[in-house]
Amino acid sequence: MANATPLDTWTPTSWQQKHTLQQPTYRDAQALERTVTALAKLPPLVVSWEIDALRERLAQAGRGEAFILQGGDCAESLEACSSDRIVSQLKILLQMSLVLTNGLKRPVIRVGRLAGQYAKPRSADTETREGVTLPCYRGDIVNLAPFDAVSREPDPALLLRGYERAALTLNFVRSLVDGGFTDLHHPEYWDLDFMRHSPLYEEYRKITDSLADSLTFFEHATGRAMADTQRIDFYASHEGLHLHYEQAQTRYIQRRAAWYNLSTHLPWVGVRTAGLADGHVEYFRGIANPVAVKVGPSSDADYLQGLCRILNPENIPGRLTLIHRLGAKDVDAKLPGLIAAVRAAGANVVWICDAMHGNTESTKSGLKTRRFDNILKELESAFRIHAQMGSILGGVHLEMTGDNVTECTGGARGLSDEDLARAYVSTVDPRLNYEQALEVALRISRWQDHR
Ligand code: PEP
Ligand code: CO
Repeated sequence: MANATPLDTWTPTSWQQKHTLQQPTYRDAQALERTVTALAKLPPLVVSWEIDALRERLAQAGRGEAFILQGGDCAESLEACSSDRIVSQLKILLQMSLVLTNGLKRPVIRVGRLAGQYAKPRSADTETREGVTLPCYRGDIVNLAPFDAVSREPDPALLLRGYERAALTLNFVRSLVDGGFTDLHHPEYWDLDFMRHSPLYEEYRKITDSLADSLTFFEHATGRAMADTQRIDFYASHEGLHLHYEQAQTRYIQRRAAWYNLSTHLPWVGVRTAGLADGHVEYFRGIANPVAVKVGPSSDADYLQGLCRILNPENIPGRLTLIHRLGAKDVDAKLPGLIAAVRAAGANVVWICDAMHGNTESTKSGLKTRRFDNILKELESAFRIHAQMGSILGGVHLEMTGDNVTECTGGARGLSDEDLARAYVSTVDPRLNYEQALEVALRISRWQDHR
């Protein structure tokens, strides 16, 4: 078990004794307490055997036997919890995973940034506009984005609304997966309406056609239908930022003799809250889920080794994933040192490259964007560096959507800064649109020599 060592002082609330960053300030502490109590009584969103299964799958990715595709919105919104959005998110993840499986010749583990990706770290507690100062927007589970005093007041009831939306999202995803939507015989179910006009459609279609041929061949050769031999699974993840929310969903599972966070399969700690002595690392060390931590350009060897010691003292494969997000400009200089530090400690980690968060910039008009070329450049460097060092890049982490938004520049259609205004929807970070996301998968699968 991930936490079989005596955890001395750990409890689901022990993080409260530590310095904890990025938590909202609620005016009514008792209302928060009541909400956390209510949340703790509600049924879990995921179950321990799914969580344990994911840890095994992540261990495979760490050994190069599988590849993780983790992607979704920067922030989900309560309002956007709709059938269309969930279906298109699932479709693009399925399309990408098919392209990646075909190119990398490895099974792909699909992990959505969904059903709980509602809390966001911010650079300041407050925001001032035209002389008016209000609390900053911290994600829909905390407060609402419009700049007025009522919307911006942190409201504990939103924790329950977020939990309910997460349950609705997962319920729908599970039904789609069980109902045959993910059946490999029918990749045409995943076509997005606007896809046929994409410059990438031809290349994608060729892959699905050749997959259909291989499936038929396999089924004729073995006399067994593929559906009987391979189930597509789908996992959920989110940043475990709001620790009252995470704590409320933390349950002791007698059979496993361990505490699990049952709000998601794979929670991660963001780069801004991952101090070794701080509340988030304290909370994460005690749960049996596989956990991930984002690491940035300022993470040094001591820090990484400390993370491995605290979060994975028994060095269990699949327990700890490090998601490096260094940016195209720092990846060459920094990544080799990170890999070497982990290796020197003899630590088992799964490496994932987040090619988004080190590449954020602002346009002249002040819009946050990311250049497609920088995202690709970081990914390509990450594959190359891991391969050169005899390490394994186990997956990618992307902010993306199945919708036709214009938030990142570049890609097959060469979106420019001016195009961004057309369909910029994100309230926080810019996402790849469906075409850019598919292009990332196609490009990765062409880098055969980096494996
Ligand atoms: C995120 O994943 O949306 C995020 C805030 O990332 P990071 O912690 O890497 O900045
Ligand atoms: Co983000």
